[in-house]
Amino acid sequence: MPAKNALLFESLKVRELELLNRIMISPMCTYQAELDGKAHETHLVHYGQFALGGAGLIMTEATAVEARGRISAGDLGLWSDEQVPAIKRVVDFVHQQGSKMGVQLAHAGIKASTRPPWDGNSFLDNSDAEKGAKPWQTVGPTDEPLAADWPTPMALSISDIETLVEAWGAAAARANTAGFDVLEIHGAHGYLISEFLSPLTNTRTDEYGGEQGRTRLACEVVEAVRANWPEHKPLFFRMSVIEGVDIGWSLDDSIKLAKRLKTLGVDLIDCSSGGVIGMHGKYAIPRTPGYQVFLADAIRSQARIQVSAVGLITQPNQAEAILQASQTDIIALGREALNNPYWPRHAAQVFNADEHFENWPQRYGWWLDKRAAMVKGAGQ
Ligand SMILES: Cc1cc2nc3c(=O)[nH]c(=O)nc-3n(C[C@H](O)[C@H](O)[C@H](O)COP(=O)(O)O)c2cc1C
Repeated sequence: MPAKNALLFESLKVRELELLNRIMISPMCTYQAELDGKAHETHLVHYGQFALGGAGLIMTEATAVEARGRISAGDLGLWSDEQVPAIKRVVDFVHQQGSKMGVQLAHAGIKASTRPPWDGNSFLDNSDAEKGAKPWQTVGPTDEPLAADWPTPMALSISDIETLVEAWGAAAARANTAGFDVLEIHGAHGYLISEFLSPLTNTRTDEYGGEQGRTRLACEVVEAVRANWPEHKPLFFRMSVIEGVDIGWSLDDSIKLAKRLKTLGVDLIDCSSGGVIGMHGKYAIPRTPGYQVFLADAIRSQARIQVSAVGLITQPNQAEAILQASQTDIIALGREALNNPYWPRHAAQVFNADEHFENWPQRYGWWLDKRAAMVKGAGQ
């Protein structure tokens, strides 16, 4: 998508990968996978629409590295080779449209085995089992539940952790077989890796706890993934850069971790926040347009690593201003992409970069160009 003076539409190189533009579709759970973690027809349409809409990079929803690590019974998984073909079909379609595709590998830890948000986000129980979504035993850094009335997780032993780290590596190898271009490790939002990072949820006294040990799982997962993910392909890490104002994991912690992860082969930090303190806790940062951009900016300038910024970025000019101010390398769109999957194509037109719909799929663009002339009163 050529653009006149818009950074948003300049290509971006991350490691060996060339992205067509700087727009990424942020990871978003769809809760639509088959009960065995395989992609459903809905995934083809869901991710396919973003590719038709022109996003440079499309990231999948959280995709579990083991069945216990699913947030809900409708999560995607890559814990078995049998899950590869269905998601590969989606990746192949996205590639045919010219976009690149990333997979967000995840483990939900003590926040696993839950209902979708519109069903209350609470933990599964026997009433869900009757509908096919049987609750399962969750795992975490300790046996401390998410909240007093939540099920008790099983504290992971050292050998459990070793097995789990191997599962991350095996899932990374499958992601490569499926043809993904980018792999993102979900280290944010109070899920397993983030639970280990946070002093609020990790009170272990062994080598995976304490000031030094809390980052150990994150580093081991990065190493296992890098060993099973091709050298030329980019690796992203999503971080809750802060948990909340003056509480728990801090910006300084994130800067330190980002520097360390860079030495282990991470190329980009996907900068988010919060999620650790309960399911319905207060937001870490008040939700205003671009509310997390300052976190991306801080990591980019202080850890000297590429970043993506996310959170209520909805306007093309807003996105462009963030890029022009060098606060981020990539703009990630979450809910705005649900609202308008064609956001990148419309944004290009805001910058007069595609006045005649030439970058749209031809079968749409040809008509839309003629229609635009009619709307202006210049049509036949
Ligand atoms: C429906 C939905 C599902 C989400 N699922 C994930 C997910 O699987 N992994 C993740 O890291 N973030 C997830 N998020 C967070 C988004 O990636 C994004 O960071 C957040 O929505 C803020 O961006 P926005 O204001 O552009 O929506 C989800 C958000 C929404 C709305």
